[in-house]
Amino acid sequence: MTVEHTSRIPGFYKRTLAERAAIVAQWGDLSAAEQAAMLGINGLSAAQADQMIENAVGVYALPLGIATNFLINNQDVLIPMVIEEPSVLAAVSNAARLFRAGGGFTTSSDEPIMIGQIQVLDLDDVYVAAGRVMAEKAALMDEVNRIGGSIVKSGGGAKDIQVRPMPSTSVGPMLIIHLLYDTRDAMGANAINTAVEHIAPQIEALTGGRVVLRILSNLTDHRKARAEGMIPASELATETLTGDQVVRAIVEAGVFAEVDPYRAATHNKGIMNGVDAVVMATGNDWRAIEAGAHAYAARSGQYTSLTRWWQDENGNLRGAIEMPLAVGIVGGATRVHPTAQIALKIMKIQSARQLAEIISAAGLAQNLAAMRALATEGIQRGHMEMHAKQIATAVGAPPELVSRIVQQMITEKNIRPERARALLDELRGNASSG
Ligand code: MEV
Repeated sequence: MTVEHTSRIPGFYKRTLAERAAIVAQWGDLSAAEQAAMLGINGLSAAQADQMIENAVGVYALPLGIATNFLINNQDVLIPMVIEEPSVLAAVSNAARLFRAGGGFTTSSDEPIMIGQIQVLDLDDVYVAAGRVMAEKAALMDEVNRIGGSIVKSGGGAKDIQVRPMPSTSVGPMLIIHLLYDTRDAMGANAINTAVEHIAPQIEALTGGRVVLRILSNLTDHRKARAEGMIPASELATETLTGDQVVRAIVEAGVFAEVDPYRAATHNKGIMNGVDAVVMATGNDWRAIEAGAHAYAARSGQYTSLTRWWQDENGNLRGAIEMPLAVGIVGGATRVHPTAQIALKIMKIQSARQLAEIISAAGLAQNLAAMRALATEGIQRGHMEMHAKQIATAVGAPPELVSRIVQQMITEKNIRPERARALLDELRGNASSG
Protein backbone atom coordinates (compact mmCIF):
# COMPACT_ATOMS: atom_id res chain seq x y z
CA MET A 1 0.00 0.00 0.00
CA THR A 2 1.47 3.38 -0.99
CA VAL A 3 0.73 6.39 1.14
CA GLU A 4 0.71 9.75 -0.56
CA HIS A 5 2.15 12.41 1.65
CA THR A 6 -1.12 13.95 2.68
CA SER A 7 -2.96 13.52 5.94
CA ARG A 8 -6.18 13.83 3.95
CA ILE A 9 -7.07 10.15 3.78
CA PRO A 10 -10.70 9.82 2.70
CA GLY A 11 -12.47 6.77 4.11
CA PHE A 12 -9.69 6.05 6.64
CA TYR A 13 -12.38 5.08 9.15
CA LYS A 14 -13.89 2.56 6.74
CA ARG A 15 -10.68 0.57 6.45
CA THR A 16 -9.84 -2.36 8.72
CA LEU A 17 -7.64 -1.76 11.72
CA ALA A 18 -4.83 -3.69 10.00
CA GLU A 19 -5.08 -1.47 6.90
CA ARG A 20 -5.06 1.70 8.99
CA ALA A 21 -2.06 0.45 10.96
CA ALA A 22 -0.24 -0.30 7.67
CA ILE A 23 -0.92 3.22 6.36
CA VAL A 24 0.37 4.77 9.58
CA ALA A 25 3.39 2.47 9.65
CA GLN A 26 4.36 3.60 6.18
CA TRP A 27 3.64 7.24 6.99
CA GLY A 28 5.78 7.13 10.14
CA ASP A 29 8.41 4.80 8.68
CA LEU A 30 7.83 2.45 11.60
CA SER A 31 10.03 -0.61 12.11
CA ALA A 32 8.48 -4.07 12.56
CA ALA A 33 9.01 -3.76 16.32
CA GLU A 34 7.35 -0.34 16.38
CA GLN A 35 4.40 -1.65 14.40
CA ALA A 36 4.01 -4.48 16.87
CA ALA A 37 4.15 -2.03 19.78
CA MET A 38 1.48 0.12 18.13
CA LEU A 39 -0.75 -2.95 17.86
CA GLY A 40 -0.24 -3.59 21.56
CA ILE A 41 1.74 -6.77 20.93
CA ASN A 42 4.89 -5.72 22.71
CA GLY A 43 4.05 -2.26 23.99
CA LEU A 44 4.66 -1.23 27.56
CA SER A 45 5.69 -4.35 29.47
CA ALA A 46 4.89 -5.22 33.07
CA ALA A 47 8.63 -5.02 33.77
CA GLN A 48 8.71 -1.45 32.40
CA ALA A 49 5.58 -0.58 34.38
CA ASP A 50 7.38 -1.83 37.47
CA GLN A 51 10.15 0.69 36.80
CA MET A 52 7.67 3.53 36.31
CA ILE A 53 5.50 3.38 39.43
CA GLU A 54 5.39 1.78 42.86
CA ASN A 55 3.17 -1.23 43.63
CA ALA A 56 2.79 -2.04 39.91
CA VAL A 57 0.77 -5.18 39.22
CA GLY A 58 0.35 -4.92 35.45
CA VAL A 59 -0.48 -2.61 32.56
CA TYR A 60 -3.76 -1.04 31.44
CA ALA A 61 -4.39 -0.59 27.74
CA LEU A 62 -6.51 2.07 25.99
CA PRO A 63 -7.41 2.56 22.32
CA LEU A 64 -4.88 4.41 20.16
CA GLY A 65 -6.44 6.16 17.15
CA ILE A 66 -5.24 8.47 14.40
CA ALA A 67 -6.75 11.85 13.61
CA THR A 68 -6.52 12.54 9.89
CA ASN A 69 -6.78 15.65 7.71
CA PHE A 70 -4.64 18.00 9.81
CA LEU A 71 -2.75 20.65 7.89
CA ILE A 72 -0.68 22.70 10.35
CA ASN A 73 1.53 25.53 9.12
CA ASN A 74 1.27 23.95 5.66
CA GLN A 75 2.52 20.58 6.92
CA ASP A 76 0.39 17.46 6.77
CA VAL A 77 0.20 15.79 10.16
CA LEU A 78 -1.37 12.54 11.36
CA ILE A 79 -2.13 12.89 15.05
CA PRO A 80 -2.13 9.86 17.39
CA MET A 81 -4.73 10.03 20.15
CA VAL A 82 -5.29 7.79 23.13
CA ILE A 83 -8.89 7.92 24.29
CA GLU A 84 -11.68 5.64 25.49
CA GLU A 85 -14.54 7.89 24.31
CA PRO A 86 -16.28 7.06 21.01
CA SER A 87 -16.77 9.77 18.35
CA VAL A 88 -13.76 11.89 19.35
CA LEU A 89 -11.53 10.66 16.51
CA ALA A 90 -14.26 10.87 13.87
CA ALA A 91 -15.27 14.34 15.06
CA VAL A 92 -11.76 15.79 15.21
CA SER A 93 -10.80 14.39 11.79
CA ASN A 94 -13.94 15.83 10.29
CA ALA A 95 -13.26 19.23 11.85
CA ALA A 96 -9.65 19.14 10.62
CA ARG A 97 -11.02 18.59 7.12
CA LEU A 98 -13.15 21.72 7.48
CA PHE A 99 -10.16 23.77 8.64
CA ARG A 100 -8.16 22.33 5.78
CA ALA A 101 -10.69 23.79 3.35
CA GLY A 102 -9.77 27.18 4.82
CA GLY A 103 -6.00 26.64 4.50
CA GLY A 104 -5.37 24.66 7.67
CA PHE A 105 -4.11 25.81 11.06
CA THR A 106 -1.58 28.49 11.85
CA THR A 107 0.14 27.91 15.16
CA SER A 108 2.66 29.57 17.44
CA SER A 109 4.07 29.04 20.91
CA ASP A 110 6.14 30.65 23.64
CA GLU A 111 9.60 29.60 24.73
CA PRO A 112 9.31 26.62 27.11
CA ILE A 113 9.50 28.69 30.28
CA MET A 114 8.25 27.09 33.50
CA ILE A 115 7.65 28.75 36.85
CA GLY A 116 9.20 27.36 40.05
CA GLN A 117 7.67 28.79 43.22
CA ILE A 118 9.35 29.41 46.56
CA GLN A 119 7.15 30.38 49.52
CA VAL A 120 8.82 32.46 52.26
CA LEU A 121 7.20 33.12 55.65
CA ASP A 122 8.19 34.68 59.02
CA LEU A 123 9.23 37.96 57.41
CA ASP A 124 9.11 41.31 59.20
CA ASP A 125 8.79 43.20 55.95
CA VAL A 126 7.97 41.37 52.71
CA TYR A 127 8.97 44.37 50.60
CA VAL A 128 12.46 44.57 52.12
CA ALA A 129 12.85 40.79 51.64
CA ALA A 130 11.65 41.08 48.05
CA GLY A 131 14.18 43.85 47.39
CA ARG A 132 17.03 41.69 48.72
CA VAL A 133 16.05 38.81 46.44
CA MET A 134 15.88 41.13 43.44
CA ALA A 135 19.29 42.62 44.26
CA GLU A 136 20.80 39.11 44.19
CA LYS A 137 18.86 37.93 41.18
CA ALA A 138 21.87 37.43 38.90
CA ALA A 139 23.81 35.46 41.54
CA LEU A 140 20.78 33.27 42.28
CA MET A 141 20.28 32.50 38.59
CA ASP A 142 23.99 31.67 38.21
CA GLU A 143 23.68 29.25 41.10
CA VAL A 144 20.63 27.58 39.49
CA ASN A 145 22.46 27.27 36.19
CA ARG A 146 25.59 25.90 37.84
CA ILE A 147 23.69 22.67 38.60
CA GLY A 148 21.47 22.78 35.48
CA GLY A 149 23.23 20.04 33.48
CA SER A 150 22.11 19.20 29.95
CA ILE A 151 19.18 21.65 29.93
CA VAL A 152 21.57 24.56 30.54
CA LYS A 153 24.05 23.19 27.98
CA SER A 154 21.30 23.20 25.37
CA GLY A 155 20.39 26.84 26.03
CA GLY A 156 17.83 26.46 28.81
CA GLY A 157 18.05 27.19 32.53
CA ALA A 158 17.17 30.18 34.73
CA LYS A 159 15.87 33.15 32.72
CA ASP A 160 14.44 35.44 35.39
CA ILE A 161 13.41 35.79 39.00
CA GLN A 162 10.24 37.62 39.99
CA VAL A 163 8.83 38.45 43.41
CA ARG A 164 5.22 38.57 44.52
CA PRO A 165 4.88 40.09 48.02
CA MET A 166 1.68 39.23 49.89
CA PRO A 167 1.88 41.53 52.94
CA SER A 168 -1.10 40.13 54.75
CA THR A 169 -2.30 36.54 54.61
CA SER A 170 -3.94 34.51 57.38
CA VAL A 171 -0.50 33.02 58.18
CA GLY A 172 1.29 36.39 58.15
CA PRO A 173 3.29 38.23 55.49
CA MET A 174 4.25 35.91 52.64
CA LEU A 175 6.79 36.39 49.87
CA ILE A 176 6.36 34.25 46.80
CA ILE A 177 9.37 34.02 44.54
CA HIS A 178 9.07 32.84 40.95
CA LEU A 179 12.04 31.30 39.21
CA LEU A 180 11.45 31.40 35.46
CA TYR A 181 13.26 28.45 33.97
CA ASP A 182 13.57 27.39 30.33
CA THR A 183 13.27 23.60 30.24
CA ARG A 184 13.88 23.24 26.48
CA ASP A 185 12.42 19.94 25.20
CA ALA A 186 11.60 18.56 28.64
CA MET A 187 8.31 19.07 30.44
CA GLY A 188 10.81 19.99 33.12
CA ALA A 189 9.16 19.14 36.43
CA ASN A 190 12.33 17.51 37.78
CA ALA A 191 14.65 20.26 36.60
CA ILE A 192 12.54 23.04 38.03
CA ASN A 193 11.86 21.31 41.35
CA THR A 194 15.57 20.57 41.74
CA ALA A 195 16.38 24.21 40.99
CA VAL A 196 13.98 25.72 43.55
CA GLU A 197 15.01 23.24 46.23
CA HIS A 198 18.66 24.07 45.50
CA ILE A 199 18.37 27.84 46.01
CA ALA A 200 15.95 27.70 48.96
CA PRO A 201 18.73 27.90 51.62
CA GLN A 202 20.17 30.99 49.88
CA ILE A 203 16.71 32.56 49.85
CA GLU A 204 16.40 31.95 53.60
CA ALA A 205 19.81 33.47 54.20
CA LEU A 206 19.00 36.52 52.07
CA THR A 207 15.55 37.23 53.47
CA GLY A 208 15.90 35.99 57.05
CA GLY A 209 12.61 34.20 56.48
CA ARG A 210 11.54 30.57 56.52
CA VAL A 211 11.06 28.76 53.20
CA VAL A 212 8.21 26.28 53.12
CA LEU A 213 7.08 25.14 49.65
CA ARG A 214 9.46 24.77 46.70
CA ILE A 215 7.59 23.44 43.69
CA LEU A 216 6.71 24.21 40.08
CA SER A 217 3.43 25.89 39.17
CA ASN A 218 1.12 24.09 36.76
CA LEU A 219 -0.27 27.45 35.68
CA THR A 220 2.44 27.59 33.01
CA ASP A 221 1.27 30.87 31.53
CA HIS A 222 4.70 31.69 30.10
CA ARG A 223 4.55 28.48 28.10
CA LYS A 224 1.45 28.81 25.96
CA ALA A 225 0.58 27.48 22.53
CA ARG A 226 -1.82 29.01 20.06
CA ALA A 227 -3.67 27.81 16.97
CA GLU A 228 -6.10 29.50 14.68
CA GLY A 229 -7.84 28.85 11.43
CA MET A 230 -10.73 29.60 9.13
CA ILE A 231 -13.61 27.49 7.84
CA PRO A 232 -15.34 28.71 4.68
CA ALA A 233 -19.04 29.27 5.44
CA SER A 234 -19.95 27.18 2.39
CA GLU A 235 -18.37 24.12 4.06
CA LEU A 236 -20.74 24.41 6.98
CA ALA A 237 -24.07 24.39 5.13
CA THR A 238 -26.36 21.48 6.01
CA GLU A 239 -29.50 20.11 4.35
CA THR A 240 -31.62 22.54 6.31
CA LEU A 241 -29.26 25.43 7.22
CA THR A 242 -27.18 27.80 5.12
CA GLY A 243 -23.47 28.15 5.79
CA ASP A 244 -24.08 31.64 7.15
CA GLN A 245 -26.67 30.35 9.60
CA VAL A 246 -24.30 27.68 10.89
CA VAL A 247 -21.44 30.20 11.24
CA ARG A 248 -23.70 32.45 13.31
CA ALA A 249 -24.95 29.58 15.45
CA ILE A 250 -21.36 28.49 16.17
CA VAL A 251 -20.36 32.04 17.09
CA GLU A 252 -23.39 32.22 19.40
CA ALA A 253 -22.40 28.90 20.97
CA GLY A 254 -18.87 30.25 21.49
CA VAL A 255 -20.17 33.37 23.21
CA PHE A 256 -22.31 31.18 25.49
CA ALA A 257 -19.07 29.60 26.75
CA GLU A 258 -17.36 32.99 27.05
CA VAL A 259 -20.04 34.41 29.35
CA ASP A 260 -21.19 31.38 31.35
CA PRO A 261 -18.88 29.19 33.48
CA TYR A 262 -21.40 26.32 33.45
CA ARG A 263 -21.19 26.14 29.68
CA ALA A 264 -17.46 26.97 29.64
CA ALA A 265 -16.73 23.86 31.74
CA THR A 266 -18.39 21.59 29.15
CA HIS A 267 -17.01 23.55 26.20
CA ASN A 268 -13.47 23.27 27.59
CA LYS A 269 -14.04 19.59 28.41
CA GLY A 270 -14.65 19.07 24.71
CA ILE A 271 -11.39 20.89 23.93
CA MET A 272 -9.57 18.68 26.43
CA ASN A 273 -10.96 15.57 24.68
CA GLY A 274 -8.56 16.45 21.88
CA VAL A 275 -5.77 17.90 23.99
CA ASP A 276 -5.55 15.12 26.59
CA ALA A 277 -5.74 12.39 23.97
CA VAL A 278 -2.53 13.63 22.30
CA VAL A 279 -0.94 14.40 25.67
CA MET A 280 -1.58 10.78 26.70
CA ALA A 281 -0.43 9.33 23.38
CA THR A 282 2.91 11.06 23.89
CA GLY A 283 3.33 9.93 27.50
CA ASN A 284 2.90 13.41 28.94
CA ASP A 285 1.27 14.36 32.25
CA TRP A 286 -2.36 15.10 31.39
CA ARG A 287 -3.22 16.13 34.98
CA ALA A 288 -0.65 18.91 34.71
CA ILE A 289 -2.12 20.03 31.39
CA GLU A 290 -5.66 19.92 32.78
CA ALA A 291 -4.67 21.93 35.88
CA GLY A 292 -2.95 24.56 33.75
CA ALA A 293 -5.76 24.79 31.23
CA HIS A 294 -8.51 25.36 33.76
CA ALA A 295 -6.48 27.75 35.91
CA TYR A 296 -5.72 29.74 32.76
CA ALA A 297 -9.40 29.70 31.77
CA ALA A 298 -10.16 31.31 35.15
CA ARG A 299 -7.36 33.90 35.05
CA SER A 300 -9.69 36.92 34.86
CA GLY A 301 -11.56 35.80 37.97
CA GLN A 302 -14.37 34.31 35.90
CA TYR A 303 -13.95 30.88 34.39
CA THR A 304 -14.34 31.20 30.62
CA SER A 305 -13.73 29.54 27.27
CA LEU A 306 -10.24 28.64 26.04
CA THR A 307 -11.30 29.45 22.47
CA ARG A 308 -12.79 32.39 20.60
CA TRP A 309 -15.04 32.13 17.52
CA TRP A 310 -16.08 34.91 15.19
CA GLN A 311 -17.41 35.60 11.69
CA ASP A 312 -14.88 37.38 9.51
CA GLU A 313 -15.49 40.13 6.95
CA ASN A 314 -16.05 37.50 4.24
CA GLY A 315 -18.70 35.75 6.27
CA ASN A 316 -16.45 32.78 7.08
CA LEU A 317 -15.96 31.24 10.50
CA ARG A 318 -12.71 31.85 12.39
CA GLY A 319 -11.56 30.23 15.58
CA ALA A 320 -8.55 30.62 17.85
CA ILE A 321 -7.24 28.89 20.94
CA GLU A 322 -4.56 29.89 23.43
CA MET A 323 -3.67 27.77 26.42
CA PRO A 324 -0.71 26.77 28.59
CA LEU A 325 0.81 23.56 27.24
CA ALA A 326 3.79 22.28 29.18
CA VAL A 327 4.62 19.09 27.32
CA GLY A 328 7.98 17.42 26.78
CA ILE A 329 9.49 15.06 24.24
CA VAL A 330 12.38 13.82 26.38
CA GLY A 331 12.41 12.23 29.82
CA GLY A 332 9.65 10.77 31.95
CA ALA A 333 7.09 8.38 30.51
CA THR A 334 7.71 9.80 27.02
CA ARG A 335 11.13 8.16 27.07
CA VAL A 336 10.08 4.88 28.67
CA HIS A 337 6.77 4.16 26.94
CA PRO A 338 7.37 2.51 23.54
CA THR A 339 4.07 3.72 22.10
CA ALA A 340 4.74 7.31 23.20
CA GLN A 341 7.95 7.22 21.16
CA ILE A 342 6.01 5.94 18.17
CA ALA A 343 3.43 8.71 18.56
CA LEU A 344 6.21 11.32 18.37
CA LYS A 345 7.63 9.59 15.32
CA ILE A 346 4.26 9.53 13.51
CA MET A 347 3.95 13.30 14.06
CA LYS A 348 7.62 13.85 13.12
CA ILE A 349 8.12 15.88 16.27
CA GLN A 350 11.40 17.79 16.55
CA SER A 351 10.73 19.96 19.59
CA ALA A 352 8.44 20.26 22.61
CA ARG A 353 7.10 23.51 21.19
CA GLN A 354 6.09 21.83 17.93
CA LEU A 355 4.23 19.17 19.94
CA ALA A 356 2.44 21.84 22.02
CA GLU A 357 1.34 23.61 18.84
CA ILE A 358 -0.06 20.42 17.31
CA ILE A 359 -1.93 19.73 20.55
CA SER A 360 -3.46 23.21 20.51
CA ALA A 361 -4.67 22.63 16.93
CA ALA A 362 -6.22 19.32 18.02
CA GLY A 363 -8.02 21.15 20.85
CA LEU A 364 -9.37 23.81 18.50
CA ALA A 365 -10.55 21.22 15.96
CA GLN A 366 -12.24 19.17 18.67
CA ASN A 367 -14.03 22.29 19.86
CA LEU A 368 -15.27 23.08 16.36
CA ALA A 369 -16.58 19.55 15.94
CA ALA A 370 -18.59 19.73 19.17
CA MET A 371 -19.95 23.21 18.49
CA ARG A 372 -20.90 22.44 14.93
CA ALA A 373 -22.86 19.40 16.05
CA LEU A 374 -24.42 21.18 19.02
CA ALA A 375 -25.35 24.24 16.98
CA THR A 376 -27.00 22.14 14.26
CA GLU A 377 -28.39 18.63 14.72
CA GLY A 378 -27.17 17.99 18.30
CA ILE A 379 -24.52 15.43 19.16
CA GLN A 380 -26.68 12.39 19.80
CA ARG A 381 -27.12 11.33 16.19
CA GLY A 382 -23.39 11.09 15.60
CA HIS A 383 -22.88 9.37 18.90
CA MET A 384 -25.57 6.80 18.28
CA GLU A 385 -23.60 4.62 15.89
CA MET A 386 -20.51 4.37 18.08
CA HIS A 387 -22.70 3.80 21.12
CA ALA A 388 -24.55 1.00 19.31
CA LYS A 389 -21.23 -0.48 18.24
CA GLN A 390 -19.99 -0.50 21.82
CA ILE A 391 -23.18 -2.19 23.01
CA ALA A 392 -23.03 -4.82 20.28
CA THR A 393 -19.42 -5.56 21.13
CA ALA A 394 -20.17 -5.63 24.85
CA VAL A 395 -22.82 -8.34 24.44
CA GLY A 396 -20.25 -10.47 22.65
CA ALA A 397 -21.04 -9.89 18.97
CA PRO A 398 -18.11 -11.02 16.80
CA PRO A 399 -16.67 -8.30 14.50
CA GLU A 400 -18.38 -9.74 11.38
CA LEU A 401 -21.84 -9.34 12.97
CA VAL A 402 -21.37 -5.99 14.74
CA SER A 403 -22.32 -3.72 11.87
CA ARG A 404 -25.56 -5.63 11.09
CA ILE A 405 -26.63 -5.45 14.72
CA VAL A 406 -25.72 -1.76 14.87
CA GLN A 407 -27.68 -0.85 11.74
CA GLN A 408 -30.72 -2.78 12.94
CA MET A 409 -30.69 -1.12 16.37
CA ILE A 410 -30.37 2.33 14.75
CA THR A 411 -33.23 1.64 12.35
CA GLU A 412 -35.39 0.51 15.25
CA LYS A 413 -34.14 3.40 17.44
CA ASN A 414 -33.69 0.75 20.10
CA ILE A 415 -30.07 0.78 21.21
CA ARG A 416 -30.00 -1.39 24.30
CA PRO A 417 -28.02 -4.43 25.40
CA GLU A 418 -31.21 -6.59 25.53
CA ARG A 419 -31.95 -5.80 21.89
CA ALA A 420 -28.33 -6.34 20.83
CA ARG A 421 -28.35 -9.72 22.57
CA ALA A 422 -31.63 -10.74 20.91
CA LEU A 423 -30.33 -9.69 17.47
CA LEU A 424 -27.11 -11.58 18.09
CA ASP A 425 -29.07 -14.72 19.02
CA GLU A 426 -31.20 -14.31 15.91
CA LEU A 427 -28.19 -13.90 13.64
CA ARG A 428 -26.41 -16.82 15.26
CA GLY A 429 -29.55 -18.90 14.87
CA ASN A 430 -29.64 -17.94 11.21
CA ALA A 431 -25.97 -18.57 10.82
CA SER A 432 -26.14 -22.03 12.39
CA SER A 433 -29.33 -23.05 10.54
CA GLY A 434 -27.99 -21.65 7.25
C1 MEV B 1 -18.33 15.42 25.15
O1 MEV B 1 -17.26 14.61 25.54
C2 MEV B 1 -17.86 16.83 24.85
C3 MEV B 1 -18.96 17.86 24.52
O2 MEV B 1 -19.91 17.90 25.59
C4 MEV B 1 -18.26 19.19 24.38
C5 MEV B 1 -19.20 20.38 24.24
O3 MEV B 1 -20.33 20.35 24.78
O4 MEV B 1 -18.74 21.37 23.66
C6 MEV B 1 -19.72 17.49 23.28
